[in-house]
Amino acid sequence: MSKERKKRRHIEREFGVPFAGEILDPGAWTQTALKKLPAEGPLDLLTLFGRSAPLVVDLGCGNGRFLLGSAVWRPDHDHLGIDILPVVIRYATRRANQRGLPNIRFAVCDAVRLLERYLPPHSATEIHCYHPQPYYEPSQVHLRLVTPRFLVLVHRALVPGGSFFIQTDNLGYWRYIRDIVPVFFDFYERIGRWPDAPKGRTRREIIALRRGLPVFRGWGTARQGLSEPEALRWAETLPPPLFDADRRLRELDEWEKKGLRI
Ligand SMILES: C[S@@+](CC[C@H](N)C(=O)[O-])C[C@H]1O[C@@H](n2cnc3c(N)ncnc32)[C@H](O)[C@@H]1O
Repeated sequence: MSKERKKRRHIEREFGVPFAGEILDPGAWTQTALKKLPAEGPLDLLTLFGRSAPLVVDLGCGNGRFLLGSAVWRPDHDHLGIDILPVVIRYATRRANQRGLPNIRFAVCDAVRLLERYLPPHSATEIHCYHPQPYYEPSQVHLRLVTPRFLVLVHRALVPGGSFFIQTDNLGYWRYIRDIVPVFFDFYERIGRWPDAPKGRTRREIIALRRGLPVFRGWGTARQGLSEPEALRWAETLPPPLFDADRRLRELDEWEKKGLRI
């Protein structure tokens, strides 16, 4: 086999940006799809991963680019990615399987459902949420993921001092996030790109950067001493995500969906 051919077989790119890891021979592939969630929950993480390790969760993980990289570079962490769209989870699991990763699982699941029912309280070391959909149609605004209640659930799922990472290219969404996340997290705006992924941590970030859109990034640690009842009381005083999503950006989401390969 020529050197050229060998390279093509092992390294995958998306918009010219390589995915972490290499495609291994089929004998080394793993099974990373979590096809059946327990009827009731919570998830038995010890059985799922066969060990106890810090857990990294990606909510609305899309094709799993960020989580795959983290699983390759941090073999001592376990990873769980979920998305409501089965097709993106199929891409994510195929890539994880082909890289022989033992420390990652992907499932089709709604993010709020995962937090409410499946993730045990104080079980995740990191929770990531990259480019949650802004939903442009008034009839879909209720589907916006980041709400006060969502943040209470993220706070509950994190270990004490655990970290929450969030980013968007939608200014309206960002303003809302910046206003309410600090109620539950000691929150910092990240100025500039993440140093581990200057071309973008996720597919959507890569697309936004290629289009020259500003990307708003932040991270925070769960506020210590904030009990769940207190967090819920705060949540009741906060507004729902009723920002103007800027319909000019809508075409970007449609364009993204038309992408042939994800
Ligand atoms: C704009 S894409 C971003 C995907 C990925 N995080 C990235 O940055 O490339 C938003 C993703 O969130 C998923 N999603 C939307 N609502 C969700 C929900 N309630 N629970 C889980 N995933 C959701 C969509 O299916 C989609 O894959």
